[in-house]
Amino acid sequence: MKKALACVVLAAGQGTRMRSTIPKVLHRLNGIPMIHYVLRAVSGLGPEKVIVVAGRDNEKVLKGALKSEDVQFALQKTPLGTAHALMSAGKALRGFQGDILVLNGDIPLVGTVTLRKFITKHRRARKSLSLLSFIAEDPTGYGRILRDRSDSPFGIREERDATEEGKAIKEVNSGIYLFKPRTLSLLKKIGLNSKKGEYYLTDILEIASLRGLSCGVYCSGDEREFMGINTVEELLRAQRILREKTVRYWLERDVSFMDETAVYIHPDVIIGEGTHIYPNVYLEGKTSIGSGCVIYPDVRITDSTIGDGVTIKDSSVIESAEIQGNTMIGPFARLRPGARIMKDARIGNFVEVKASTIGEGTKAQHLSYIGDADVGKNVNIGAGTITCNYDGVKKHRTVIEDNVFIGSDTQLVAPVRVEKGAYVGAGSTITKDVPSGALAISRSQERHIKGWAGKRKEKK
Ligand code: UD1
Ligand code: CA
Repeated sequence: MKKALACVVLAAGQGTRMRSTIPKVLHRLNGIPMIHYVLRAVSGLGPEKVIVVAGRDNEKVLKGALKSEDVQFALQKTPLGTAHALMSAGKALRGFQGDILVLNGDIPLVGTVTLRKFITKHRRARKSLSLLSFIAEDPTGYGRILRDRSDSPFGIREERDATEEGKAIKEVNSGIYLFKPRTLSLLKKIGLNSKKGEYYLTDILEIASLRGLSCGVYCSGDEREFMGINTVEELLRAQRILREKTVRYWLERDVSFMDETAVYIHPDVIIGEGTHIYPNVYLEGKTSIGSGCVIYPDVRITDSTIGDGVTIKDSSVIESAEIQGNTMIGPFARLRPGARIMKDARIGNFVEVKASTIGEGTKAQHLSYIGDADVGKNVNIGAGTITCNYDGVKKHRTVIEDNVFIGSDTQLVAPVRVEKGAYVGAGSTITKDVPSGALAISRSQERHIKGWAGKRKEKK
């Protein structure tokens, strides 16, 4: 049987060093609240349960921000330190028999692979308590790992309490721990740190060691993965690190960038080979981009699927849409949720598409609104066409069948259908279904009044 794992994320701190009204763990890192990265890393481990420790001040906001996550909440009524925070999760952990992974909520760069390796080491060595350490180029602010002459760890000294000599130690606590359930009972033995007036979780190492429990401190590679974020400067640095890592990852997979410092790619995004990305492009959420695409400047794509060989021109916004191969989108296009653009179609400037299918080879090149519509193949949608889908109460659908020609400045008042191969004359308001092959025209007859302009002048 796979060994059970529970995770506790400490997120109740006030984050005073951020000098912000927003709870620290909800500060955004490349657009996503910091704690989501931690939860993502943790969920990769397939834990039986995840407990987030919230504080009185941030409980409501935190619950709101994490409502779509599969987590339980524990409340730390007063922020009395990290040990006290973990104790607050006691009730939620009652009866749990597996390993307990505890992490600070402010270490967003940590990855699943590193956590998994840590768990394996802890389990193999059958430790009662383990923690992950790393070597920090500048250890300021972190708890320093104390080792005896035989290199065995026996304690952690926080910055505040460290001597000058102690401060020189570069091996520091990452804020990632593993406990056997029994070891948690030692939390009660932690005394109040008089300087800060808090109960430090870090004291557990000394207490457990003194009692002869087997404790492991595993020093792990890249310090950039364990960066703790306490200030806005650190947040900005973490953002840069994360961007660099992501860009490097995609560069190694044949994606190219005109300016690698100016693209923002979320962690779940997938990009195909040979795709080129211009500056100021945002790829967000669960987005996948095909191979051989070109994405021009100022484009934002969220939760969308883009096929191969697609060109997305400048300043287009694409949300929850599907765009098939060899299409051309933009500039200035807006594809809203439910837009499905079939292959070889063209969506041009100032065209908005919502909850609509645009068939293969169909073109809507200029200034149109297509909402709640099913548009067939090889249709031409003239400039300024609007589907009037909303009657003030309900939304209705417009159906435009294959090979239809819609003249410019047409309004299609839904529900309405234009059958195969029909034509709609420019400037028409269509309220009735148009039969296949017909011409529908609804504008008034044009009149020319001869000599009118001259007479007007004479009057004046
Ligand atoms: C902590 C560690 C330090 C370690 C560093 C790694 C302690 C005492 N120190 O320091 O050894 O090197 O993390 O980044 O643990 N929190 C609560 N309730 C509280 C206080 C904090 O839930 O009462 C949460 C915070 O929201 C945060 C986490 O615990 O997510 C860590 O707290 P923080 O104040 O950032 O600790 P550090 O000073 O960074
Ligand atoms: Ca911290």
